[in-house]
Amino acid sequence: MTALVMDRTGLREARSALAGRVAVVMTMGALHEGHAELVRVARRRADAVVVTVFLNPLQFAPGEDLDRYPKTLDADLEICRREGVDLVFAPTPDVVYPAGEPDVRVSAGPLGDVLEGTHRPGHFDGVLTVVAKLLHLTRPDIALFGEKDAQQLALIRHMVDSLDFPVEVIGVPTVREADGLAMSSRNTYLTDDDRVVALALHRALEAGAAQAAGGAPAVLAAALGVLDGEPGLGVDYLALVDDATWADVGESTTAARLLVAARVGTTRLIDNVSLALIPSARQEPTSAPPTSAPPTSAPSVG
Ligand code: PAF
Repeated sequence: MTALVMDRTGLREARSALAGRVAVVMTMGALHEGHAELVRVARRRADAVVVTVFLNPLQFAPGEDLDRYPKTLDADLEICRREGVDLVFAPTPDVVYPAGEPDVRVSAGPLGDVLEGTHRPGHFDGVLTVVAKLLHLTRPDIALFGEKDAQQLALIRHMVDSLDFPVEVIGVPTVREADGLAMSSRNTYLTDDDRVVALALHRALEAGAAQAAGGAPAVLAAALGVLDGEPGLGVDYLALVDDATWADVGESTTAARLLVAARVGTTRLIDNVSLALIPSARQEPTSAPPTSAPPTSAPSVG
């Protein structure tokens, strides 16, 4: 049975009743198959699963989509029941931030200022602040996050390491629609025409990954070719980073990540794939601003 709690007292009592290893899956609601997969992985790795449903105002800048973000708690609960979630914590902002938006926040550091951080200033401070609070409130042994938000996942790992949170962070591969579109709550904003345009993101990543043997310039050129061929896309960035350090790929890079962010109509989408570069083929450059976007050079972490 799935219990629903909305306040701190309810959470404290329900959490205390959970036995064994506890997993948390944090969400902002509008659950989809990607979230269901996080829960399935969590259930295999823990005795009990807590899902948090909280639309965190702190991670939205003025003018972003906080107000139009889909709110579907009943459907979310149905998915949680179907997937065997033990406990759903669905607080309102005044429960999470009883004194209002906090002036003490987690600072994401240099990795929070590049790529997504360039286009969404302050976003990752807001994400890490709520993730830190939800980790304290739910006290999990493991926490699962999707690889679609790869920079977020890297920053959460970095926070957990840096600040000694007693939790294991597990990344779960991106779940895609049959045509390759990465699952996202924001896909519901897409019109039929937008959706066709949006497929270029995945096509670009696949085209880039197929050129891994040719090194970084070949990867970026192939991905850029696809993006440039889709006039309906407003590309914010295309970047290839070392998957371990998030610095530009270099001589010692064994695993890389190709990332893209673009606007389709009024919707902003992100996606990424991991790829293995052939050592002899590694060359500069490793990031390419495809349109008017400034170069993105990510600082090293971990
Ligand atoms: O990835 C998300 O849905 C959110 O950023 C998270 C991790 C739930 C924090 O609000």
